[in-house]
Amino acid sequence: MQMTQLDIVPFGTQHIEGAHALSRQAGWPHRLADWEMALALSTGVVGLDNEKVVGTTLTTRYGADCATINMVVVDETMRGRGFGRRLMEAGLDAARGMPCRLIATREGLPLYEKMGFRQVGTILQHQGFCAAVDAPVDVERAQPGHLPEIAALDQDAFGADRGGLISYLANIGRFAVIRRDGYVVGFSAIRSFGRGDVIGPVVAENAEDARKLILFQIAARRDAFLRIDTTGASGLSSWLVERGLVHVGGGTAMQRGDQAGKLSHAKTFALANQAFG
Ligand SMILES: CC(C)(COP(=O)(O)OP(=O)(O)OC[C@H]1O[C@@H](n2cnc3c(N)ncnc32)[C@H](O)[C@@H]1OP(=O)(O)O)[C@@H](O)C(=O)NCCC(=O)NCCS
Repeated sequence: MQMTQLDIVPFGTQHIEGAHALSRQAGWPHRLADWEMALALSTGVVGLDNEKVVGTTLTTRYGADCATINMVVVDETMRGRGFGRRLMEAGLDAARGMPCRLIATREGLPLYEKMGFRQVGTILQHQGFCAAVDAPVDVERAQPGHLPEIAALDQDAFGADRGGLISYLANIGRFAVIRRDGYVVGFSAIRSFGRGDVIGPVVAENAEDARKLILFQIAARRDAFLRIDTTGASGLSSWLVERGLVHVGGGTAMQRGDQAGKLSHAKTFALANQAFG
């Protein structure tokens, strides 16, 4: 067995280009800007082999409630030597004992199971070009004053405070909302990501509202390549296919540690992306 020494060091902005090369090698669509966003909202480590980035892991903490572990990649020439496990251990240390969530690829699943994560759901990735649609009349573009309500609704559905993520999305993307009796009861976000735009998170009280919130974003981005990562439990998959967003893969939602589910009116129908949940 080859004895490559891997230095595990804090992930800094100087590592983004190397990390980007690694995610491209893994076939992931992330742009430099997507790595910048991930790093701005997370702490992380990189594995260095003679200064070259050959492994990454990010930990995104949401208040004191939970963290997601994401962007776990090892250079394909260096897999199977325990580096993935070492990077994951560093990622879990950064979560400081908080319950953790992640979306596993098929390749990552055995590692995560060994590290105490259990399967809790399925994520379905849909993408493509949609036929032109009209914007539903009862959805509106969000105003800055709606952001606290959007963040509160997201926290209700996700079960953790993602105020930092919501603010970041408001800066780089656009939110739409459904309001009833003057209150925000559902929202969707859209932003540039990977090959085009990603729609998510989508949080609503029911599937009908979720479909309207998605249609509003589709109507606003005619001709764009769109992606949406929905939950298996949402029941939206076949409807997305009918819109032109084909099912191209996905992942397994996993958790580690106690995450007592709270009864909530709001449900997450689409993720911000697989990294952030
Ligand atoms: C997932 C990934 C990070 C694993 O990295 P790695 O360096 O090969 O992992 P390790 O060598 O540390 O293996 C960790 C453990 O998982 C096990 N394992 C890894 N891949 C496995 C596989 N395909 N089947 C069964 N077990 C596997 C190893 O046996 C090892 O167990 P052990 O620690 O008890 O000996 C790497 O395959 C990768 O970068 N894949 C592409 C990107 C990706 O899908 N990342 C996951 C995102 S969720």
